[in-house]
Amino acid sequence: LQLKLPKLIDSETAKESLPKRKKHGHKGTFGHCLVIGGSKYYVGAPVYTAKAAFHSGIGLVTLAIPETIYSHVAGTCHESLFFPLSDTGEFIDPKALETIDYSKYKTIVFGPGLGRECDGNAMLETLLKKLTTQTIIVDADGLYFLKNHLNQLRHYEGNIIATPHPGEMATLTGKSVAEIESARLEIAKHFATEYQIYLVLKGHRTILATPEGKLWINPHGNDALGKGGSGDVLTGLIASLVSQQSDPLKAMIAASYYHAIAAEELGKKSSNYGVTPMDIIQYIPVLFGR
Ligand code: APR
Ligand code: MG
Repeated sequence: LQLKLPKLIDSETAKESLPKRKKHGHKGTFGHCLVIGGSKYYVGAPVYTAKAAFHSGIGLVTLAIPETIYSHVAGTCHESLFFPLSDTGEFIDPKALETIDYSKYKTIVFGPGLGRECDGNAMLETLLKKLTTQTIIVDADGLYFLKNHLNQLRHYEGNIIATPHPGEMATLTGKSVAEIESARLEIAKHFATEYQIYLVLKGHRTILATPEGKLWINPHGNDALGKGGSGDVLTGLIASLVSQQSDPLKAMIAASYYHAIAAEELGKKSSNYGVTPMDIIQYIPVLFGR
């Protein structure tokens, strides 16, 4: 496999990749994301995604979450709109996704906190049937189900972004984590070009790959991010930036860079031990304002 040299994300590239704020812009201008996820066992994941999106400039987020957790989530995420979904008492009922009008959303996030004991395959079938040109961002347990739909992705008209950590990448490819980690660049490029999707292969030194085979490496980030919820934050940042200006690669570059820089700067101010996903979210406006 021929590898063109990957590029390193630097502060200038990240800054150029941020959507310009429009002076006369309103909540309709800045995009609307639908986040589908959550379960009885993972209540916080979709909330982190929504909050990260709000702190990075999106106009509107609708949380499509199981009714079972609705009243709790609605009490913690006042910025969001809600689409409570019928559920099994634990997980989203896949039929509920057929009742959504997807036309008003620019981006759809599928997966944070979804759980694996639901019928995620039926949910993905519905999404791939009903969506047209919306960008779909698949993360967490959404990726566990995505592995059964890889061949369909080439036929989807809009863009698809997948954000696996090495374990999820192993599931997606049928390889071991050790194999993934020993050839991150090659595997990322092969996967993105083969299935025509945008890929964020997370971990210490996150890799970005495009359907055309372009590769980027994020040289930033640290172990302050090694806490449940950090990935949900990254997903929210990507969804927010795509909702605002559409270009998936730019969104991936800026999101992964500022996510990582927030961890580095906050870690220096206190220590990597106690920086939380919510701290990262709250620091994003400071970094975007520079
Ligand atoms: N150095 C640099 N970056 C790091 C490091 C590190 N040592 N540790 C973690 N990160 C970054 C990763 O690059 C990624 O952006 O933090 C983020 C972690 O994302 P995930 O692995 O997805 O973690 P998490 O937020 O816990 O995921 C939540 O999704 O993966 C599923 O089952 C998981 O339900 C859980 C949900
Ligand atoms: Mg994750």
